[in-house]
Amino acid sequence: MHITMVKKRLASGEPCRKCAQAEELLRKRDLWNRVDEVVWAEEDDPASPGMVLAAQHGVEAAPFYLVKHSDGPVEVFVSALKLIKAHLATPKASPAQPYDVASAREDLARATPQEVVSHALTRFGAECAIAFSGSDDVVLIDLASQTGLPFSVVVVDTGRLHAETYRFIEEVRSHYGIEIHITAPEPAELEPFVREKGLFSFLEDGHEECCRVRKVRPLRRALGGYRAWMTGQRRDQTFITRSDLELVEEDTAFEGKDGALAKFNPIANWSRDLVWQYIRDYELPHNALHHKGYASIGCQPCTRAVLPGQHEREGRWWWEDERAKECGLHPSKSDS
Ligand code: ADX
Ligand code: SF4
Repeated sequence: MHITMVKKRLASGEPCRKCAQAEELLRKRDLWNRVDEVVWAEEDDPASPGMVLAAQHGVEAAPFYLVKHSDGPVEVFVSALKLIKAHLATPKASPAQPYDVASAREDLARATPQEVVSHALTRFGAECAIAFSGSDDVVLIDLASQTGLPFSVVVVDTGRLHAETYRFIEEVRSHYGIEIHITAPEPAELEPFVREKGLFSFLEDGHEECCRVRKVRPLRRALGGYRAWMTGQRRDQTFITRSDLELVEEDTAFEGKDGALAKFNPIANWSRDLVWQYIRDYELPHNALHHKGYASIGCQPCTRAVLPGQHEREGRWWWEDERAKECGLHPSKSDS
């Protein structure tokens, strides 16, 4: 097998940012020496070797990778993660030791979000699912992709998300070159519920039942295939139900493939301002709704924009009591 990486050089002489990040990722995973050859696509020279290869293989943007096998075929990858998964990943070690949440909590007591994410992915890799709501929790995906370690991403498509959120999920998928496990309510549960209660029952009798069918049960089923999960919850999101949030917890709501699931909340201690500083500093993709006054984003009928100075949670299930503003994905300690 012979691996060629095609990198783009900008007219300024610098490598493009995505190419530099991809090289960094391969170096971090100690895989850079598996790249046999680097070919440059000069931005302003269509005759440069990399540009010629791009045209030959119908690829529009560098970096990309060509994998030549001794028996002839050439495979093209536009994502370093997919290349790693297909050809460079090392086989997983034999079944992992049970995970000790209490000692991990001690070890991580003063850890940064990056350290929590690295810890989780070093321990669980692709068996840790980042639960991505399509909002500013994109920082988790960014932190995870910087580690160069394998990870999974799960989105619950409740069927009621905003068009902007679907577009954003797609943007994140292509920006990071990752697979996203999109899960949805079971028709056998959703259909009788909608038949009996209609499409807006939550306005009459609260969001609990609809959230259970559209969000909680699909996530329960999806997490049954993992050993750990990661959320973008923060203490400052709601002082009533999330004030005692830990960086690492044993999940009390769901079960994983080996029983208890470890649950990581790497940005529990961050404020909303810090999250947004990170998104701006690193120019992360973000949901267009944030430009329209939306802060916390859930399903379309249950989310609205907030005014300057209003707390982000005031834009969620605003017709309900503050204590009821959890959908059941994250029971707080006081619920148990
Ligand atoms: S909720 O309980 O009120 O709906 P919130 O919107 O604050 O949750 O999001 C907190 C975290 O829950 C997110 O950062 C994400 O990890 C997870 N989450 C919420 N909604 C979804 C979803 N639709 N799909 C996957 N994860 C989600
Ligand atoms: Fe249903 Fe609203 Fe809950 Fe979405 S947030 S699952 S629409 S009640």
